[in-house]
Amino acid sequence: MDLETSTTNIRILKKLTIETNLEVFDSISELPKDIQELMTKAQEARENAYAPYSHFRVGAALRLVSGEIILGNNQENAAFPSGLCAERVAVFHAGATYPNIPITNLAITARSSKQTIKTPVAPCGACRQSLAEYEVKQKTPIAVFFMGEKGQVVKANSVKDLLPLIFDNSYL
Ligand code: THU
Repeated sequence: MDLETSTTNIRILKKLTIETNLEVFDSISELPKDIQELMTKAQEARENAYAPYSHFRVGAALRLVSGEIILGNNQENAAFPSGLCAERVAVFHAGATYPNIPITNLAITARSSKQTIKTPVAPCGACRQSLAEYEVKQKTPIAVFFMGEKGQVVKANSVKDLLPLIFDNSYL
Protein backbone atom coordinates (compact mmCIF):
# COMPACT_ATOMS: atom_id res chain seq x y z
CA MET A 1 0.00 0.00 0.00
CA ASP A 2 1.22 3.46 -0.85
CA LEU A 3 1.47 5.46 2.38
CA GLU A 4 0.70 8.81 0.76
CA THR A 5 -2.51 7.53 -0.82
CA SER A 6 -3.70 5.97 2.43
CA THR A 7 -3.23 9.14 4.51
CA THR A 8 -4.83 11.50 1.98
CA ASN A 9 -8.00 9.37 2.10
CA ILE A 10 -8.44 9.93 5.84
CA ARG A 11 -10.95 12.64 6.65
CA ILE A 12 -11.11 13.61 10.32
CA LEU A 13 -14.55 14.99 11.10
CA LYS A 14 -13.35 17.00 14.09
CA LYS A 15 -10.73 17.01 16.79
CA LEU A 16 -11.72 17.07 20.44
CA THR A 17 -9.60 18.52 23.23
CA ILE A 18 -10.32 17.24 26.70
CA GLU A 19 -9.46 19.57 29.54
CA THR A 20 -9.44 18.76 33.23
CA ASN A 21 -8.84 20.95 36.26
CA LEU A 22 -6.88 19.69 39.23
CA GLU A 23 -5.53 21.58 42.23
CA VAL A 24 -2.07 20.85 43.66
CA PHE A 25 -1.17 21.48 47.30
CA ASP A 26 2.41 21.63 48.47
CA SER A 27 1.85 19.24 51.36
CA ILE A 28 -0.81 17.73 53.60
CA SER A 29 -0.50 20.72 55.98
CA GLU A 30 -1.94 23.01 53.27
CA LEU A 31 -5.19 21.04 53.17
CA PRO A 32 -8.35 21.96 55.12
CA LYS A 33 -8.39 20.37 58.58
CA ASP A 34 -11.10 17.79 57.76
CA ILE A 35 -9.12 16.61 54.72
CA GLN A 36 -5.90 16.45 56.75
CA GLU A 37 -7.74 14.21 59.17
CA LEU A 38 -9.02 12.04 56.30
CA MET A 39 -5.53 11.75 54.77
CA THR A 40 -4.11 10.77 58.17
CA LYS A 41 -6.70 7.98 58.33
CA ALA A 42 -5.68 6.89 54.82
CA GLN A 43 -2.04 6.79 55.96
CA GLU A 44 -2.98 4.62 58.92
CA ALA A 45 -5.02 2.30 56.68
CA ARG A 46 -2.11 2.12 54.24
CA GLU A 47 0.08 0.54 56.90
CA ASN A 48 -2.42 -2.32 57.26
CA ALA A 49 -2.34 -3.12 53.54
CA TYR A 50 -1.72 -6.74 52.59
CA ALA A 51 0.91 -6.24 49.90
CA PRO A 52 3.46 -9.08 50.20
CA TYR A 53 3.98 -9.23 46.43
CA SER A 54 4.31 -5.62 45.30
CA HIS A 55 5.50 -4.13 48.62
CA PHE A 56 3.42 -1.15 47.45
CA ARG A 57 0.96 -0.16 50.14
CA VAL A 58 -2.04 1.96 49.32
CA GLY A 59 -4.46 3.44 51.84
CA ALA A 60 -7.83 5.01 51.15
CA ALA A 61 -10.20 6.84 53.48
CA LEU A 62 -13.55 8.18 52.41
CA ARG A 63 -15.93 10.38 54.30
CA LEU A 64 -19.68 10.02 54.06
CA VAL A 65 -22.03 12.98 54.29
CA SER A 66 -22.97 11.63 57.77
CA GLY A 67 -19.36 12.22 58.86
CA GLU A 68 -18.52 8.51 59.06
CA ILE A 69 -15.09 7.53 57.74
CA ILE A 70 -14.62 4.26 55.82
CA LEU A 71 -11.15 2.80 55.24
CA GLY A 72 -9.62 0.57 52.60
CA ASN A 73 -6.21 -0.73 51.66
CA ASN A 74 -4.89 -2.98 48.92
CA GLN A 75 -5.41 -6.70 49.44
CA GLU A 76 -3.12 -8.80 47.28
CA ASN A 77 -3.34 -12.48 46.38
CA ALA A 78 -0.93 -15.18 45.19
CA ALA A 79 -3.26 -15.41 42.17
CA PHE A 80 -2.52 -11.78 41.28
CA PRO A 81 -5.81 -10.69 39.64
CA SER A 82 -7.75 -11.89 42.67
CA GLY A 83 -6.40 -8.99 44.73
CA LEU A 84 -8.08 -5.61 44.99
CA CYS A 85 -6.97 -1.96 45.15
CA ALA A 86 -7.42 0.15 48.28
CA GLU A 87 -9.91 2.53 46.64
CA ARG A 88 -12.28 -0.24 45.61
CA VAL A 89 -12.04 -1.96 49.00
CA ALA A 90 -13.13 1.36 50.57
CA VAL A 91 -15.86 2.29 48.10
CA PHE A 92 -17.34 -1.24 48.02
CA HIS A 93 -17.35 -1.31 51.81
CA ALA A 94 -19.21 2.02 51.83
CA GLY A 95 -21.63 0.77 49.17
CA ALA A 96 -22.26 -2.44 51.07
CA THR A 97 -22.66 -0.85 54.51
CA TYR A 98 -24.24 2.53 53.79
CA PRO A 99 -25.83 2.16 50.35
CA ASN A 100 -27.86 5.37 50.60
CA ILE A 101 -25.39 7.75 52.24
CA PRO A 102 -23.42 9.87 49.75
CA ILE A 103 -19.62 10.02 49.80
CA THR A 104 -18.16 13.54 50.00
CA ASN A 105 -14.37 13.08 49.96
CA LEU A 106 -11.81 10.38 49.31
CA ALA A 107 -8.15 10.52 50.37
CA ILE A 108 -5.52 8.18 48.88
CA THR A 109 -1.87 7.65 49.78
CA ALA A 110 0.77 5.11 48.71
CA ARG A 111 4.07 3.95 50.16
CA SER A 112 6.60 1.57 48.67
CA SER A 113 9.29 -0.26 50.59
CA LYS A 114 11.52 0.05 47.50
CA GLN A 115 11.63 3.86 47.22
CA THR A 116 10.17 6.96 48.84
CA ILE A 117 7.20 8.03 46.74
CA LYS A 118 7.08 11.82 46.60
CA THR A 119 4.87 12.19 43.55
CA PRO A 120 1.10 11.91 43.97
CA VAL A 121 -0.24 8.45 43.07
CA ALA A 122 -3.47 8.70 41.09
CA PRO A 123 -6.06 5.92 41.35
CA CYS A 124 -5.82 3.29 38.62
CA GLY A 125 -8.28 3.22 35.74
CA ALA A 126 -10.39 0.40 37.19
CA CYS A 127 -10.74 2.28 40.48
CA ARG A 128 -11.73 5.47 38.67
CA GLN A 129 -14.45 3.53 36.89
CA SER A 130 -15.69 2.02 40.17
CA LEU A 131 -15.64 5.39 41.92
CA ALA A 132 -17.49 6.97 38.99
CA GLU A 133 -20.31 4.45 39.42
CA TYR A 134 -20.96 5.68 42.97
CA GLU A 135 -20.69 9.33 41.96
CA VAL A 136 -23.30 8.80 39.25
CA LYS A 137 -25.47 6.83 41.69
CA GLN A 138 -25.43 9.52 44.40
CA LYS A 139 -25.72 12.43 41.90
CA THR A 140 -23.22 14.56 43.82
CA PRO A 141 -19.47 14.88 43.22
CA ILE A 142 -16.85 13.01 45.22
CA ALA A 143 -13.71 15.11 45.75
CA VAL A 144 -10.57 12.97 45.43
CA PHE A 145 -7.26 13.86 47.13
CA PHE A 146 -4.20 11.76 46.31
CA MET A 147 -0.55 11.75 47.30
CA GLY A 148 2.48 9.49 47.61
CA GLU A 149 4.12 8.87 50.97
CA LYS A 150 5.00 12.55 51.41
CA GLY A 151 5.03 15.73 49.37
CA GLN A 152 2.40 17.23 47.12
CA VAL A 153 -1.29 16.40 47.20
CA VAL A 154 -3.53 16.60 44.14
CA LYS A 155 -7.23 17.40 44.43
CA ALA A 156 -9.88 16.53 41.85
CA ASN A 157 -13.25 18.11 42.60
CA SER A 158 -15.04 15.17 41.03
CA VAL A 159 -14.23 11.66 39.80
CA LYS A 160 -15.30 13.00 36.39
CA ASP A 161 -12.15 15.14 36.40
CA LEU A 162 -10.09 11.95 36.61
CA LEU A 163 -12.10 9.96 34.08
CA PRO A 164 -13.02 11.73 30.87
CA LEU A 165 -15.26 9.83 28.43
CA ILE A 166 -16.90 8.06 31.35
CA PHE A 167 -18.82 4.85 30.66
CA ASP A 168 -21.99 5.05 32.70
CA ASN A 169 -25.51 3.68 32.84
CA SER A 170 -26.69 6.10 30.14
CA TYR A 171 -25.25 3.69 27.56
CA LEU A 172 -27.21 0.71 28.86
N1 THU B 1 -3.04 -0.35 43.87
C1 THU B 1 -4.03 0.26 44.59
O1 THU B 1 -4.36 -0.18 45.70
N2 THU B 1 -4.64 1.33 44.07
C2 THU B 1 -4.35 1.87 42.83
O2 THU B 1 -5.04 2.77 42.39
C3 THU B 1 -3.20 1.36 42.10
C4 THU B 1 -2.59 0.12 42.58
C5 THU B 1 -2.40 -1.54 44.43
C6 THU B 1 -2.68 -2.81 43.67
C7 THU B 1 -1.49 -3.65 44.02
O3 THU B 1 -1.75 -4.30 45.25
C8 THU B 1 -0.37 -2.63 44.23
O4 THU B 1 -1.00 -1.38 44.41
C9 THU B 1 0.61 -2.55 43.08
O5 THU B 1 -0.04 -2.32 41.88
